[in-house]
Amino acid sequence: MIMNSVPWIPYILFHFMFLRLCSSLDTISITQPIRDGDGGGDVLVSNGETFAIGFFSPGKSNYRYVGIWYHKITEKTVVWVANRDNPINGTSGFLSIDTQGNLVLFDNNDQTVPVWSTNSSSLPTNEYSEAQLLDSGNLVLFQNESKRLLWQSFDYPTDTMLPNMKLGIDRRTGLSRFLASWKSADDPRIGNYTVRIDPAGSPQLILYEGQVPWFRVGHWNGIRLSGVLVFKMDPLYYYTFVNNDTEISFMWTMYNMSILSRIVVVGSRFVQRTIRYDQERGWREFMTSPEEPCDQYGHCGAFGLCDPNNTTEFECTCLPGFEPKSHNEWNFRDGTHGCVRKPGSLICSKGEGFVKLENVKVPDTSKVVVINGLSLEACEKECLRSCNCTAYASANISEGGSGCIAWHGDLVDTRIFTAGGQDFYLRVDERVLGKCNTSIYVFDETSKSP
Ligand SMILES: *[C@@H]1O[C@H](CO)[C@@H](O)[C@H](O)[C@H]1NC(C)=O
Ligand SMILES: *[C@@H]1O[C@H](CO)[C@@H](O)[C@H](O)[C@H]1NC(C)=O
Ligand SMILES: *[C@@H]1O[C@H](CO)[C@@H](O)[C@H](O)[C@H]1NC(C)=O
Ligand SMILES: *[C@@H]1O[C@H](CO)[C@@H](O)[C@H](O)[C@H]1NC(C)=O
Ligand SMILES: *[C@@H]1O[C@H](CO)[C@@H](O)[C@H](O)[C@H]1NC(C)=O
Ligand SMILES: *[C@@H]1O[C@H](CO)[C@@H](O)[C@H](O)[C@H]1NC(C)=O
Ligand SMILES: *[C@@H]1O[C@H](CO)[C@@H](O)[C@H](O)[C@H]1NC(C)=O
Ligand SMILES: *[C@@H]1O[C@H](CO)[C@@H](O)[C@H](O)[C@H]1NC(C)=O
Ligand SMILES: *[C@@H]1O[C@H](CO)[C@@H](O)[C@H](O)[C@H]1NC(C)=O
Ligand SMILES: *[C@@H]1O[C@H](CO)[C@@H](O)[C@H](O)[C@H]1NC(C)=O
Ligand SMILES: *[C@@H]1O[C@H](CO)[C@@H](O)[C@H](O)[C@H]1NC(C)=O
Repeated sequence: MIMNSVPWIPYILFHFMFLRLCSSLDTISITQPIRDGDGGGDVLVSNGETFAIGFFSPGKSNYRYVGIWYHKITEKTVVWVANRDNPINGTSGFLSIDTQGNLVLFDNNDQTVPVWSTNSSSLPTNEYSEAQLLDSGNLVLFQNESKRLLWQSFDYPTDTMLPNMKLGIDRRTGLSRFLASWKSADDPRIGNYTVRIDPAGSPQLILYEGQVPWFRVGHWNGIRLSGVLVFKMDPLYYYTFVNNDTEISFMWTMYNMSILSRIVVVGSRFVQRTIRYDQERGWREFMTSPEEPCDQYGHCGAFGLCDPNNTTEFECTCLPGFEPKSHNEWNFRDGTHGCVRKPGSLICSKGEGFVKLENVKVPDTSKVVVINGLSLEACEKECLRSCNCTAYASANISEGGSGCIAWHGDLVDTRIFTAGGQDFYLRVDERVLGKCNTSIYVFDETSKSP
């Protein structure tokens, strides 16, 4: 009857449904782009339904971006943005694969130049690539026959570090994976704060303000990064740090991947880690740094010591055997110019030694000498051999400590933790050694040399 007289209707219906089904799969191919639209556009959901990719407008912005967010969380939490520097004005964007196999984002109104591209591939003409959103939140582009990986979003983080994502440097390709804050909640362009690994000395993860260190997340001390303390919730995840010929990298992994967690550089210069246990309670702040003045890089200058316990007074003191470079500035609670050895100090001479400070965030390790496999006793001897050596500590504090880090020259950004941290051995002369029998020595006027 009617059906028979127009036999193509079921076909069109079928075709339409097929396309709808396709747009809910987790892959993008040359024949299957995702398109923005007035109703919010296509959304691609990962296999386990943890993440979704599609078009969005951040905050109060009207611009459109391609982003990845948590699929099941009603409060849209974006973890990655493709075109963070090149927004689309209007809902005419589409994300597709080009003939070279790149993932490309176009504005339908101007198809001459892509708004954004993975820019990584030049596949032969008879080969094709596909992009798939994995349940880890990683968008991977691969050659569809061989499954060879061509590009992945985990190599180009925006402001969020997800579990199993590496930050750091690939020594073979030179690729540096780092986090960069958004300009604001409405604007995902690169903001003023970045988190990257400084490969010098004993590699450190550092939060920079522009090009200047703002907070040292710290070096790997065998258990954790030295600038952040152990939390009682730590059994939820573990860290992996690698420093070998192929890479320097820092990664974290959840024991239970159904617990969602992320590390974010928020524009207001904080590194946060938040965990969501359930929809009702929303994202919970888990760790925030910098937290206090002592976290701020170089707050007490060279050879200064920051002690947040010193609440009634200025939190800056000098390391044993040192005094403020400018007592005047110190009186105005400005420690940035740091401390100098007290006049008449006799370093590198008879009777000198080391005072032990406990619970220390060790100073900047970008200029240290690291000798693995050395005992602490041998480390002390090694330090004494060079008159320039100012301090030493264990390189790896796990299981009683092993290895040797030796500082030469200035000691910058040293602080005390209320608990946690590590033992730190500071070179002092005979007179200071005689006076400093306590493990935690705090500068005060009465201890000055006569
Ligand atoms: C965005 O598009 C609207 C409407 O087409 C236009 O009025 C506006 O000027 C555009 N904004 C920019 C920055 O191009
Ligand atoms: C692709 O790479 C070229 C050359 O490296 C660069 O000029 C261009 O801006 C890149 N395009 C995009 C969309 O990133
Ligand atoms: C790869 O993609 C091309 C073009 O879409 C398709 O013809 C081919 O069947 C795909 N191969 C596989 C293994 O999926
Ligand atoms: C970023 O830095 C620039 C230059 O120092 C400054 O003008 C701007 O206010 C800063 N923006 C934010 C969000 O801190
Ligand atoms: C630190 O020491 C522990 C115990 O000796 C060892 O298992 C671990 O591999 C060491 N870590 C590094 C980075 O050397
Ligand atoms: C460096 O470590 C990574 C990750 O564990 C590993 O895949 C790679 O093979 C290592 N490279 C070398 C030269 O040992
Ligand atoms: C993982 O976490 C989920 C959600 O909190 C929980 O339901 C599940 O029992 C946990 N699995 C394991 C193996 O602990
Ligand atoms: C010690 O420091 C001085 C001055 O900074 C430098 O000239 C000298 O080479 C250093 N010596 C060693 C052994 O590092
Ligand atoms: C800091 O103060 C607390 C409470 O007053 C005290 O228990 C702790 O030992 C102090 N820590 C240091 C490093 O002085
Ligand atoms: C230093 O400590 C040792 C043992 O802890 C003690 O025997 C000695 O008298 C102390 N010296 C001073 C000057 O307090
Ligand atoms: C606080 O600092 C002052 C001077 O810097 C020092 O005299 C005092 O002993 C310190 N107090 C504590 C509790 O560390």
